[in-house]
Amino acid sequence: MTLRAATADDLDAIMAIERRSFPTDAWSPELMAAELESPHGRYLVDEVEGTIIGYGGVRALQGGADADIQTIALDAVHRGSGRGRALLRALLDAAEERGAQEVFLEVRADNPSAEGLYLSEGFEEIGRRPRYYQPDDVDAIVMRLVLRHRRGATEPGAHDTDAAKGATA
Ligand SMILES: CC(C)(COP(=O)(O)OP(=O)(O)OC[C@H]1O[C@@H](n2cnc3c(N)ncnc32)[C@H](O)[C@@H]1OP(=O)(O)O)[C@@H](O)C(=O)NCCC(=O)NCCS
Repeated sequence: MTLRAATADDLDAIMAIERRSFPTDAWSPELMAAELESPHGRYLVDEVEGTIIGYGGVRALQGGADADIQTIALDAVHRGSGRGRALLRALLDAAEERGAQEVFLEVRADNPSAEGLYLSEGFEEIGRRPRYYQPDDVDAIVMRLVLRHRRGATEPGAHDTDAAKGATA
């Protein structure tokens, strides 16, 4: 699995996956291009033997407390083998590097795969936006992850305790 920063040259490959993954509400190429160029976030692509098979992006203003997972998608044949989780974790790492403390996202209420991924990474539902996704008339589930509650995250003071244990061992 190879994750790397997305560039403007990746637009066509990303848009092909975007259209296949979100047939009724794909972003426009203009919107995607603006996202790829924005200094306020980080977009990553997942490549297999030089072919882009997935992408994801997070909006996280440098030094801002909040970040938003903007999008994440893998080509269908590559789903279900852990790549989505790896991509999401890399986006959460990017948000953390930029100083975010909380990460938000919206997921369609009829997308249990994505919701399951987010729940398993520690996101919690904090609300719903009725009929947010049009033309499909599907609710959005709004989710939040407090980064210090991330699985594997070190609680404040834990390092000290470990160091103290090490010192007396
Ligand atoms: C959502 C998506 C990115 C997840 O990526 P993925 O590589 O398929 O997911 P992973 O293999 O990393 O699985 C991670 C977790 O997601 C959940 N999940 C994945 N597929 C699932 C399915 N068919 N049903 C229920 N949960 C599922 C599980 O919690 C899984 O963890 P587990 O394997 O330990 O049970 C991918 O399915 C996708 O591109 N979907 C289409 C686009 C999309 O819906 N994007 C999200 C928009 S909010």
